Amino acid sequence: MRQRILKALRSWMAAKGLDGILVTSPHNRFYLSGFLAEDMGIEESAGALLVLRRQHLLLTDGRYREQAEREAPGWHVIVYKNLAQGVREAVEGLGIGSLAYEPRFLSCAAMRSLEKALPGVRWMDSKGFLDGKRAVKSDAEVEAIREAIAVAEEVMEEAGKRVVPGVIERELAAWIVQELSVRSQGPSFPPIVASGPNAALPHAVPGSRTVAPGDPVIIDLGARVRGYCSDMTRTFFAGGPGGRMAEVYRVVREAQVAAIEACVPGATGRAVDRAARQVIAEAGLGEFFVHATGHGVGIAVHEAPSLSKRWRRALRPGMVVTVEPGVYLPGEGGVRLEAMVLVTDEGPVELTGQGGYLQW
Ligand code: GLY
Ligand code: MN
Ligand code: MN
Repeated sequence: MRQRILKALRSWMAAKGLDGILVTSPHNRFYLSGFLAEDMGIEESAGALLVLRRQHLLLTDGRYREQAEREAPGWHVIVYKNLAQGVREAVEGLGIGSLAYEPRFLSCAAMRSLEKALPGVRWMDSKGFLDGKRAVKSDAEVEAIREAIAVAEEVMEEAGKRVVPGVIERELAAWIVQELSVRSQGPSFPPIVASGPNAALPHAVPGSRTVAPGDPVIIDLGARVRGYCSDMTRTFFAGGPGGRMAEVYRVVREAQVAAIEACVPGATGRAVDRAARQVIAEAGLGEFFVHATGHGVGIAVHEAPSLSKRWRRALRPGMVVTVEPGVYLPGEGGVRLEAMVLVTDEGPVELTGQGGYLQW
């Protein structure tokens, strides 16, 4: 797979008249090379790739040399003191005139240093070429995602059993992190456990709240396997739904099913979003659905495509997306249900199973 991507990248470089590309996105770095180091934010990168017409180099610092050589066979590993110096030495004498770069994954400070170190180079925004490629998964990538889902589902099933009055959000979240860490490469994002009124916050941070009878409890978690993520949400009730939550739940589930059915090749992200939004609006809850319907998942937990109003491009076979409508009632609680779906020529394939959905 990696050879094929490298080839496609070089064809793109040739078409754009580029001598190379500097890859600083950790996701694209892994996608192309297999080097699975974590960055500590944009200012503490574990390295970059420099793909030229005839060479491909992995530039990193001394801490990662061994890991890079092991995980990225076929890449020439260069140990640098800093990125600008590493790139300058790597291209010295090669007559490089133009390089693409990834502005979302390069600080302004690093860019200035690069410009200073390589005064003859013209820099061009890569415009997310590799991010676009990543949206369509190979069979091997789908297999890794399936394994990440299997772990998430095991943990979700057990977590659901722990949703009882008296449990504390943070304790349940800590248990989830531990289980994901033991069973996979770890959580694909910090899990969410949001109970009662906290369930009205789509990205609530687990806190010290004790779950009370009738509370909705939103659990959103994912695992990482061989570098690939899962992302799923279920809403449980401690003892049974309180207030109007059972009705809200039914609406959200209906919206989710409608949107999953809409995940077919050729449909735009906007159309899938509309399918979910329409069901929720018809139930009079439209103003409480405050986020997009879903997003691509792969090496990054959030990646292309987006199932939202602003995504007018079509879904293609091989894309893996979440479908996660939610209704959030301030001060009261909320419901979100999140599935993962593979887009195929034969229609949507739900990669997450039917476990954890409630019926009354
Ligand atoms: N876990 C964040 C999300 O569902 O997008
Ligand atoms: Mn999620
Ligand atoms: Mn999600």
